[in-house]
Order: sequence, then structure tokens, then C-alpha cells
Amino acid sequence: MNPKLATLSGSINVELSNRVREIEANGEKVLKLQTGEPDFETPKAIIESAHQAMMSGSTHYCASSGVSELKEVIAKKLTSQNKIASFKENVLVSHGAVHAFYLVSQSILAEKDEVIIISPYWMPYKSCVELAGATPVVIDSSSHHFALPLDEIEQAITSKTKAIIINSPNNPSGVIYDKEALTQLIEISKKHGIYIISDEVYEDICFSKEHHSVAALTDDNERIVSIFSLSKGYAMTGWRIGYIHASTELISTFNKLAQYTVTSICHFTQIAAITALTSSEAANEKQAMKNEYSHRRGSILAHIKGTWLEEKLVVPQGAFYCLIDVSSFTGDSAEFARKLLSEYKVCFTPGEAFGLIDTPHIRMTFATDLNTIVKALDILITVGG
Ligand SMILES: Cc1ncc(COP(=O)(O)O)c(C=O)c1O
Repeated sequence: MNPKLATLSGSINVELSNRVREIEANGEKVLKLQTGEPDFETPKAIIESAHQAMMSGSTHYCASSGVSELKEVIAKKLTSQNKIASFKENVLVSHGAVHAFYLVSQSILAEKDEVIIISPYWMPYKSCVELAGATPVVIDSSSHHFALPLDEIEQAITSKTKAIIINSPNNPSGVIYDKEALTQLIEISKKHGIYIISDEVYEDICFSKEHHSVAALTDDNERIVSIFSLSKGYAMTGWRIGYIHASTELISTFNKLAQYTVTSICHFTQIAAITALTSSEAANEKQAMKNEYSHRRGSILAHIKGTWLEEKLVVPQGAFYCLIDVSSFTGDSAEFARKLLSEYKVCFTPGEAFGLIDTPHIRMTFATDLNTIVKALDILITVGG
């Protein structure tokens, strides 16, 4: 077996999901607050467009970097919405953001490179870095209220540092990085000649702050790779479609690997993605989903007023998660999540799954119905009270 696979950590999420299934198989109900995907259906206009595309023969192999028409639509969207001056040659369509990370890490990293990752982080960052033979250097942002820890980042840079991965709006903290902090990060990356890999998959779900694409904040963005997805904003997790913006040289390198790993992205999914990015129906539904997340967020904040959670829950600026500091009750977030599941039949994701070890937290999704959310909050209020 490839020894690199042995370095991939087994997931606590899988363990908890298996346990949830066992409990449900025994006829008991579980409040599930651990999932990382929208609880809405994909907008109808997108589904109809895929159906039509299938019926009219878009069911074959196509260009490995994505069909030209979709790449043009994406380049226009990046230019007008994200303010990243973009052409279709700067775009590669990927099998979701997770595949984008694989392509980027395998293309730009080599053995012995170091990559700075900010904890809490989405676990595949670390796995992709390790699979490329490079070393993740993790910086904990919890003492900075999950903002970009710029001083620590600069201190962690060595001659081996190749890249830094950032994620804003952030899963799991919900923090959106300030424009000023991103601008300073660009300065640091230029000074040391390192790449910024920016995960912006939650760009459509912002509440109290504007999202800024880091690649838009400099004219010289050759070393910035930006990763986007239709999964979260359009409730399209199962369609597996995302895209990368980067320099034309990097895009052609990513494309070489894409040819050998996926051949091409499903053609009718790409046609549906054009509909997602251009139709007013899809845009309206995306807005309606965002409004519902915003409503749930408001209800959560109202419900926890005056309880211990008011102090310990990180108010999300974006995405659809609440991160909760449980360090007053436990030194081990996984143990705490196991206990909540076995004793109270409520499932959260432990912070350990995001590399948050020193300050135990749990993550609660609000991409689920308000009734479930309120019941789960009441359990937490009781447990902590
Ligand atoms: C921060 C972050 N990036 C990327 C992804 C994956 O996106 P995709 O479904 O496009 O692979 C997720 C999914 O949970 C995520 O939370």
C-alpha cells in the first residue's frame, strides 16, 4: 500500500455517523447537528436544465478543464462579482472543491515543502498536503477570535514554506476575514514568495460582513489560487462541481493532472452550472436559502441570550455553523461529542475534526430545521447549566 495513505487520519466524523446509524437502527431518534451541507433541494431550474442537457445528448466526455461556455460564464462571474479580473483561460472546472484541492496540492507541492494551515481547518487541507508529501504547519487561530493570525503566520514561514491555505467564510468558525488582514497577508506572501490558496466555497452565505476574494485585492495575483464551489450556495453538494481561478500557467498544470484523474467533469452537470450562475430563478432561490440561514442564525442568538452559550458561542459572520467553546466542561471535544450522543442523543462535530485540540469546541450546523436546532440548544443549555 502507498505509505502516504497511512498518514491520513481516520475520521471521528465517520465514527459518530456510524454510531448515529446504530442508535437509529434501535428505533431511537437522534438530533443531527453534525452535517456540513444545505438542507434544501437544488433549485428546480438547475435540475430541469440538467435534464434537458441529458435529453439533448450532453452525455459524453468533454474538455478536461471544463466546457468553454461554462468557463466563460465563470470568468464573467469572477470579474463582476468577486472583482477578480478573469478570462476563461484562468478557470478550471473541478469535481467539487475537494478535487480542486487535490489538483492544486499535487501540482504545486513537492516532498519537504511546508504549507501553513490555520486551525480550525477543513480536514482535507491537511490530507491533501500530506498526500503530496509536504508537511502541514498548523497555526491555531483560537486566541485571535479566529481572525487571521498574521504575526504567527509570518513567524512560521521558513525557506521550505510553499503555500498558506486560508478559508473565509470559515468552516467551522463562521469568521469572515477583513479586507485589511487579507491585504497584509498578500504583502507577507509576496515578501516570502509563497502561494496563497484561498477556499471561498461559502462566499454566498455571509450575514454580518462582506466577503472579499483575496485575489481581487492585488493586481499581481499570479501566486494566488482561488477555489469556489456550487455545493453550498446552490445546495448542489451531490452534483460535485466547483472551479479554480489561477494564472493561465497554473491552470494548464492543474489541467494535466485533471486529464489523468477525472478525464472531464460530467457534461450535463456543467450545463446545469451555467443555469445556476446565470438564471434569475436560481439566483432568487439562492437568496431565499441565505435568508432562511440568516433567520435561523437570528433565532439561535435570541434563544441563547442570558445562558452560558451567549458567552461561548462564536457568532457566525458567514457559512452555516456555530462553533461553541466547551473547554469549561471537557479537555477532549471528541469525548464530549461521544457523551452528548450516547446520553442525550444529539450529534455535534467535535473541534478535534478541525484540528482544534488545545481549546475544545463543538460545531453545530444550522443547515437543518429550527425545531431540531432549538431542541439541541436546550440540551446544551441544560448540560452546561
Ligand atoms: C471549507 C470547505 N471547503 C470545501 C468543501 C467541499 O466543497 P465541495 O462540495 O465543492 O467539494 C467543504 C465542504 O464541507 C468545506 O467545508
